[in-house]
Amino acid sequence: MAVTNESDTFDIGGELTVHRLGFGAMRLCGPEVIGPPDDEAAAREVLQRAVDLGVDFIDTADSYGPGVSERLVREAGVTGDAVVATKAGLLRNTDGDWLPHGDPDYIRNQVLASRDRLGVDTIDLYQFHRPDPDTPFEDSVEAFAELKDEGLVDHVGLSNVTVDQLETARDQVEIATVQNQYNPGNRDDANVLQACEEYDIGFIPWFPLGAGDLGEKAAVLDEIADEHDATRMQVALAWHLQHSPVTLPIPGTSSLDHLEENVAATAISLSDEEVQRLSE
Ligand SMILES: NC(=O)c1ccc[n+]([C@@H]2O[C@H](COP(=O)([O-])OP(=O)(O)OC[C@H]3O[C@@H](n4cnc5c(N)ncnc54)[C@H](OP(=O)(O)O)[C@@H]3O)[C@@H](O)[C@H]2O)c1
Repeated sequence: MAVTNESDTFDIGGELTVHRLGFGAMRLCGPEVIGPPDDEAAAREVLQRAVDLGVDFIDTADSYGPGVSERLVREAGVTGDAVVATKAGLLRNTDGDWLPHGDPDYIRNQVLASRDRLGVDTIDLYQFHRPDPDTPFEDSVEAFAELKDEGLVDHVGLSNVTVDQLETARDQVEIATVQNQYNPGNRDDANVLQACEEYDIGFIPWFPLGAGDLGEKAAVLDEIADEHDATRMQVALAWHLQHSPVTLPIPGTSSLDHLEENVAATAISLSDEEVQRLSE
């Protein structure tokens, strides 16, 4: 049977309806997420296949490449078929470092560059990538709020924030999503997910598969995977989808086979007991 994205939908910011299983476009870049991949045509094909399989939510960032991931999303021709979320707030260098930079002028510059690379007038969801210790958090968030007021972005999201930072930002602008690290093996930010549930904010778990390292939950995942004739990665994704109705997992891959495997995970139905075992 053909693989298709069977996940249910979530309304980002109450109006952008997407299937909850999305795609993370960071892994389409070269090593260390710097520069282009060896085979750009293959990267574009992964994006196109994702959309063909029913994925309509794609996550990227100005810092992926930098610029490369956004460019590939545009070149793949998928911006009209999917909600595209991008981010600003991190600088890169040839050592592959990720350097927080939340200066408001920089954010206002980056939105223009991202619009051009993505080929859109308005960015669907613009996320503040990571709070910058050298810039007051409120100042960075204010820049995002202004961009929303000016119509350059439709919705504002945060990434790598605490519940306190989420509350602070919510006083300044409507927050549509929060993107934090979260997977069955790392639930340190469970309190952030809980806050998102309370406010009906989309929670985008990055590193949803732990890139294969799911810590002490690996053995349980494998046991459950055997029961469902599935893989560990598929069970991890099924868990994300059943663990919370506001979760929008964005597994990343540069492989068509892994993409199909990940989308096929949306057909898996875990029992309440299995979800519970993975949530303990
Ligand atoms: N906001 C942030 O600070 C932040 C930080 C990191 C990432 N992100 C976002 O989150 C997305 C996902 O995070 P991530 O890519 O770090 O982690 P991930 O999705 O947990 O793992 C991706 C890795 O797992 C492999 N993989 C994917 N599907 C697989 C499968 N079915 N079987 C075996 N291996 C598989 C991929 O390799 P192959 O290419 O070989 O499949 C890739 O190396 C990124 O694309 C990015 O959009 C955000």
